[in-house]
Amino acid sequence: MTARQRGWRVPTALVALSLIPVLAGTARLVELGGGPAVIPADARFAASPLPVAVHIVCAAVYAILGALQFAAGFRRRRPGWHRVAGRVLVVAALGVASSALWLTLFFPPQEDSGPLLYVLRLVFVPAMVASLVLGVAAVRRGDVAAHRAWMTRAYAIALAAGTQAFTEGVGEGVFGTSALVLDLSRGAAWVINLVVAEWVIRRRPVGGGAGRLGGGAPRLAGGAARLAGARRQRPAATLVGDRP
Ligand code: HEM
Repeated sequence: MTARQRGWRVPTALVALSLIPVLAGTARLVELGGGPAVIPADARFAASPLPVAVHIVCAAVYAILGALQFAAGFRRRRPGWHRVAGRVLVVAALGVASSALWLTLFFPPQEDSGPLLYVLRLVFVPAMVASLVLGVAAVRRGDVAAHRAWMTRAYAIALAAGTQAFTEGVGEGVFGTSALVLDLSRGAAWVINLVVAEWVIRRRPVGGGAGRLGGGAPRLAGGAARLAGARRQRPAATLVGDRP
């Protein structure tokens, strides 16, 4: 496998993880649009289809386009793409978060879920928005490492929609069907995704992250700022062999 092909492994895995909710969402849009009911109709969504339609479209854009931002080589080769896609992604992510909040607060809850899921959604939606805000603020001040970390966290929170397909299956298989099991297994998906995100963030060196990101001017500014900081804090000898 070439280095270029290896660079696509993570985005491919992320697209694969997104596929279940994206396909379910497509089926829901088809059903709401009067097409064949490939999934059972839901009276709550039929009564007020706009929030769920916004949610599904924004989520699909965010999940699929967002996965491409993790292709390191592509990012390096096409920094312009990374920046343009990034702007689209922030809008899509805000669409996902605001519609998710709307669906949580103003729609009757899913029959088989309980109060824990309600609370978890009210925790993770603001957490996703906060991560986005911090990610945007970080790149604006040239701190690419912080930008990468916060954007990874925001994406991980959203992509719990994909992981939930697995945790729900395992939860039901092991503990049976109840509202608490459903809520806990969905909550577990957020925890798993955030643990993986923290591992990914820490796995790659801060300086190396900046070097690998295709961020153009902000990337260079961030790298330079960090290098200047490192030179102030460490004796010159330790900089030899330091990763960029
Ligand atoms: C912070 C992240 C997210 C939260 C809190 C969230 C929350 C919600 C809520 C409250 C609903 C209504 C569920 C119901 O009452 O039946 C919903 C529906 C849905 N969400 Fe999300 N969502 C998030 C992210 C995503 C993402 C990233 C995707 C896709 C990749 C997605 C796909 C869907 C789909 C397809 C539905 C419609 C389900 C159906 O037709 O029954 N969500 N979401």
